[in-house]
Amino acid sequence: MEKYLINPNEKIAKINKEIYGHFSEHLGRCIYGGIFVGKDSEIPNKNGMRKDVVKALKEMGIPVLRWPGGCFADEYHWKDGIGDLKNRKKMINTHWGGVTEDNSFGTHEYFELCEQLGCKTYVNGNVGSGTVQEMSEWVEYITFDGVSPMAELREKNGRKKPWKLDYFGVGNESWGCGGNMAPEHYGNLYKQYNVFVRDYKGQKEHINRIACGPNSDDYHWTKKVLDKVKWRTDGLSLHYYTVPKGNWNDKGSATKFDNNEYNSTICKAYKMEELITNHLAMMDSVIPGAKSKLVVDEWGTWYDVEPGTNPGFLYQQSTMRDAVVAALTLNIFNKHADRVIMANIAQTVNVLQSVILTDGEKMVKTPTYYVFKMFKEHQENTLLGSFITTDSVKSKNDGNKEFPRLIESASIDENGVIYSTVANTSFDKSAKIKCQIADRKVKSIKAEIITGEMHAKNDFNKKEEVNIKEFNDFKALSNGFTCTLPACSVVKFVIE
Ligand code: AHR
Repeated sequence: MEKYLINPNEKIAKINKEIYGHFSEHLGRCIYGGIFVGKDSEIPNKNGMRKDVVKALKEMGIPVLRWPGGCFADEYHWKDGIGDLKNRKKMINTHWGGVTEDNSFGTHEYFELCEQLGCKTYVNGNVGSGTVQEMSEWVEYITFDGVSPMAELREKNGRKKPWKLDYFGVGNESWGCGGNMAPEHYGNLYKQYNVFVRDYKGQKEHINRIACGPNSDDYHWTKKVLDKVKWRTDGLSLHYYTVPKGNWNDKGSATKFDNNEYNSTICKAYKMEELITNHLAMMDSVIPGAKSKLVVDEWGTWYDVEPGTNPGFLYQQSTMRDAVVAALTLNIFNKHADRVIMANIAQTVNVLQSVILTDGEKMVKTPTYYVFKMFKEHQENTLLGSFITTDSVKSKNDGNKEFPRLIESASIDENGVIYSTVANTSFDKSAKIKCQIADRKVKSIKAEIITGEMHAKNDFNKKEEVNIKEFNDFKALSNGFTCTLPACSVVKFVIE
């Protein structure tokens, strides 16, 4: 029997709701078709946004949406995406399939989408091929409330009131698709561009600036960029994708995998813990005591595209394996809530580890969708101290590297209700757990589960295989509970 301890007396940090954030790029069918279909579409929409998708994302509790890229951000020129639709300039989306981008989804459409979703905004600016003036004018266009050339242009295009810009990314993957820069060069550019990302309303509506951080375990990048940027940023981004075979030319299938590949996926997903810990340590060594923040604004599984689909569109299915990856990663983020202020899974609809898949007018919620929905009560709660004993699983494909079979996190809301999410990452072994809550008499416990055989998935024209169900296989104790978690499962306990 594994022991699980939750300590309501140890209140660690507020869990920023942005940790449960999403990312939508002009890539394949994420924006076009997946979210935005245009006002004249037969698919039910409000001002061009799919009603079914907006409703599903709201129910899931989407707190923030990053846009327009990704790699696309560094070749996006925002002025091409405003004004009369007929006159919007077309461009080639060179990174993603070489398709024509007609710019029908631009700044106004993005903010309309976020208004419909009721979520925070995170716009990623262009450093790779854009100018300082272009970036500065975009921020003025979005946020300035008064008489100015960009505010007038915005009004001419139908929007008098400025929008709220919560986060602004100064470049994306500047070490790669964003310009192939050396960290020192990017660090200098960041300082320059950042000056012109103005807080027109002062600190009252401060725009959180995100500097381009490392790819995976590139600690050198973190050190050199932060050396230049210092306190001028509100967060350094980290990108990490789980690629089961660890090979970009043969990543592995989203739906066909054996036990070893399953374990290897989980093992690689766990790397997130090591990356966060080490990058934070590196950041602390550059600016001791500053407690600089991390923003994991791209994460998730990345498989070979579904057979027969455009390789540049990154469309992949999603199974229970992805649900387990999502649950373990969100638990890791919760546990680092004091320093990880935002995270954005890639990408919202039809791209990589998406929460929604669409096919014309049809829509499917993936297993990952249900994990986000299940975990949403953690948003804005206070992280509690918790610990679980667990055996480890060996990943044969990773030189027998071990990963913990169980991972948990717990939080408390303002009414004293405790939420605990536990993942059993084993594909074949259930886990018996005894949970004790310090100094607490338990009045009631409710629980929910997401589980299934590791290949279980939701598909078009089929009954849903994976969703959230009530979980009753636990016994309440005066100060906790005992339970048996099935293999390959994610469970939430709500304890009063
Ligand atoms: O999410 C897909 C791509 O992955 C993004 O455009 C890029 O930033 C990253 O390499």
